[in-house]
Amino acid sequence: MNIINGKEVSKKTREKVALMVKDFVAEKGRIPCLAVILVGEDPASQTYVKNKIIGCEEVGMKSLSYRLPANSTNDEVAKIIKDLASDSTVDGILIQLPLPKGLDERYLLSLIPDSKDVDGFSPNNLGLLAMNNPRTVSCTPYGVMELLASTGVNLSGKNAVVIGRSNTVGKPMAMLLLNANCTVTVCHSKTQNMAEITKQADILVVAIGKPKFVTEDMVKEGAIVIDVGINRVDGKLVGDVDFENVSKKASFITPVPGGVGPMTISMLLYNTLMCAKYED
Ligand code: GUN
Repeated sequence: MNIINGKEVSKKTREKVALMVKDFVAEKGRIPCLAVILVGEDPASQTYVKNKIIGCEEVGMKSLSYRLPANSTNDEVAKIIKDLASDSTVDGILIQLPLPKGLDERYLLSLIPDSKDVDGFSPNNLGLLAMNNPRTVSCTPYGVMELLASTGVNLSGKNAVVIGRSNTVGKPMAMLLLNANCTVTVCHSKTQNMAEITKQADILVVAIGKPKFVTEDMVKEGAIVIDVGINRVDGKLVGDVDFENVSKKASFITPVPGGVGPMTISMLLYNTLMCAKYED
């Protein structure tokens, strides 16, 4: 069994992005800029946003940070997004999710132009991914593809099973694996006999948000297992996979923490640079 080191792959990705940013600045005479909007005081979101800002500094990009109270109105948040949308010095706009109750996530996300959609959440960007002509791709599944690439295993023709069907992870993950010529099955909370399906997986990506949901009896010997879950149990972070037992069967497996988590921000930084390039 090999543990996939997300911190290491993430560091390499950031080094590559930093070099590309340097070239961009030299060529265009301006610095790529990401605007991050955080509404409310959710502690996990505050940490993510802080790390996104630090990530920008690390790779030589500018960032703008907007912090609004949890009781902000749709109009107040919309005004900020619209101003950023028309500001030619801003390349990417990110609204940290989840938004507090009362705010209309779909409406507010729709105000981000496709060209500044660093999360790859817009209908057009998701559609382009579905057509295997991607522009920006949702950061977490994109990071999973980098982790899979780091194993050196050829994905073509492999059985890939994704557990989870969210618009932000499960669906784009399935499309990325399909684009990589895998045979893809998506399982979710209503799937029957899930273990029968997951046992066929050469590649198993788990994003269901339930601690230690995947147990060793659900996994094929030699499978690559990617754990997207981040669950807090008794003050500790645990994934969606029972790492201790599943790792005995897997050929490659990601730990939590230190697996998929570190990749998400690296891919966000990459996406921001891509948005800067597309705009020019
Ligand atoms: N909240 C948790 N993950 C993400 C993400 O990838 N993007 C945004 N915008 N919010 C998140």
